[in-house]
Amino acid sequence: MKICVVGIGFIGLPTACLLASKGFHVLGVDINEDYVNKLKTNRLKIEEKNINDLLEKSLNDKSLTLDTKPSRADIFIICTPTPLDENKKPDLSYLIEGINSILPYLNKGNMVIIESTIPLKTTQEIIRPIIETMGFQVGKDIYLAHCPERVLPGEILYELVHNNRIIGGCTENCSNKVKNFYEKFVKSEIHTTTADIAEMVKLVENSYRDVNIALANELMITCNKLGIDPYDVVSLANKHPRVNLLDFSIGVGGHCLPVDPYFIIDSFPETSKLLATARNINNSMPKYIASKIERFLNQKNNPKIGVWGVSYKKNSSDIRNSPALEIVNILKDKGYCVNIYDPLVNGINYDKIKYESIMDSNFLIILVGHDEFIEEDYEEIASLMDSPIILDGANILEKINIPKNVEHYNLMKI
Ligand SMILES: NC(=O)c1ccc[n+]([C@@H]2O[C@H](COP(=O)([O-])OP(=O)(O)OC[C@H]3O[C@@H](n4cnc5c(N)ncnc54)[C@H](O)[C@@H]3O)[C@@H](O)[C@H]2O)c1
Repeated sequence: MKICVVGIGFIGLPTACLLASKGFHVLGVDINEDYVNKLKTNRLKIEEKNINDLLEKSLNDKSLTLDTKPSRADIFIICTPTPLDENKKPDLSYLIEGINSILPYLNKGNMVIIESTIPLKTTQEIIRPIIETMGFQVGKDIYLAHCPERVLPGEILYELVHNNRIIGGCTENCSNKVKNFYEKFVKSEIHTTTADIAEMVKLVENSYRDVNIALANELMITCNKLGIDPYDVVSLANKHPRVNLLDFSIGVGGHCLPVDPYFIIDSFPETSKLLATARNINNSMPKYIASKIERFLNQKNNPKIGVWGVSYKKNSSDIRNSPALEIVNILKDKGYCVNIYDPLVNGINYDKIKYESIMDSNFLIILVGHDEFIEEDYEEIASLMDSPIILDGANILEKINIPKNVEHYNLMKI
C-alpha cells in the first residue's frame, strides 16, 4: 500500500517515518526543496526522539522516499501548516495548496486524511467541494476524513502509536475505511465520529489547556501582588481530588495552543469570550515577565545580559510563537544588550557559544528549562560573569546548585 504524506515538518516527518517502518511504501512531500534535499542527505539533525535513526533507516531501505511533488498513492495524508495571519485569522493557503497538489494524482478508492488542525467545517465545506470538483463523490469514490493529531513534541513516534485517535469522516463509510487504516499501526482506542465533531474536539483540547494555563497565569499575578508563593498555592490546590491547575509560565508558545483557540473565536466570537480572554492573558505574559526583568536591569548601568533558552518550551528546538523570544525582543527593543544561547535551536541568532553568551555579563536570565541548563556548573558560570545575578523564568533554581554568594530570583515568585 502506498502512502503520500504532504508536508513533512514536525508532524508529517515522524508520521512518514513511522508508516515506512510499519511496512508501507511512503512518499514524503514538502514544497521546501532545500529542506527535502537536506533530509535526503541526512544533513539535518531533527530534535525528536529516535527520528534521525528511523529516517536514515527508512531512506536506506527505500521504504521512504522524499520529493517536492506528490505522486499516485492509495492514501494521502495532509500535514501542512495552518497558521494564523497577522489579524489572527486562520490562514488556510498551505492546506488548500496541499490539497490542490494531490488532485492530479487522485484515483477512485483513495483515502484523503487531514491531520492538520483546521477551523470548524473546513473538511465538509472547503476540502470536500475541492475534491468533488474533480468529479469524485466523497464517501463513494474518495474517503475523506479529518484525523486530528494530538502528539507531544519529543514523544511523537511513541504517541503516534499509543494515543487514542479520533476519526471524523465526511460520511460513515469514510470513517470506517480510514479507521481500518489507522488500526494497522495504532495500539490504542480509535473513535469514529463526524468531520465537524472531530474538528471541534481538536480545537477544544487545546483551548481547554490554554484556558487552564491562563487561569494559572492570572493566579500567579495575583499571588505576586499578594506576596505569596504561587507554586505553593497551585500545588496545594491540586491536592484537591477534582482540581488540576496547569503550570503558570512566562507565556504560551508553539504552533498549537496560541493558535487553535482563534479558530473557534474567529467563527463564533460572541460565544467564545472566555477563550478570547484566556488568549489575551496568555499573550500578555511575556510583557509582564519582561517588566519584572527590567526592574532588576535598571539597578545597573548599561547591564550586560545573557539569556539562555529561546525555544517555546523545554528540550524543544521549536521557536514558533516562543514567549522567551518575545521577552528577548522586548528587551532588545528597549536598547538592552542581550546575548542569547540555546543549544537546541539552529540559527544564526541563537547559537552564541554558551560561555560567550554570559562572559562579563551582569545577568543570566534562564527562560527555558532545558535539561542542559539544569546540569550546568554554576560555580564556573558565575566566575565568568561580572557581579552576577541569575533570574529564573523556568523554575529550575531548586534543581541547580547556585553558589551561595550569587543573587538569584525566581521570576514567578516576585
Ligand atoms: N507540531 C505539533 O506539535 C502539532 C501537534 C498537533 C497538530 N499539529 C498540526 O499539524 C499541522 C502541521 O504542523 P507542523 O508542526 O508539522 O508544521 P511544520 O511547519 O513543522 O511542517 C509543515 C511542513 O509543510 C510544508 N508545506 C507547506 N505547504 C505545503 C504544500 N502545499 N505541500 C507540501 N508541503 C507543504 C512546509 O514546508 C513544512 O515543512 C498543523 O496544522 C498543526 O497545527 C501540530
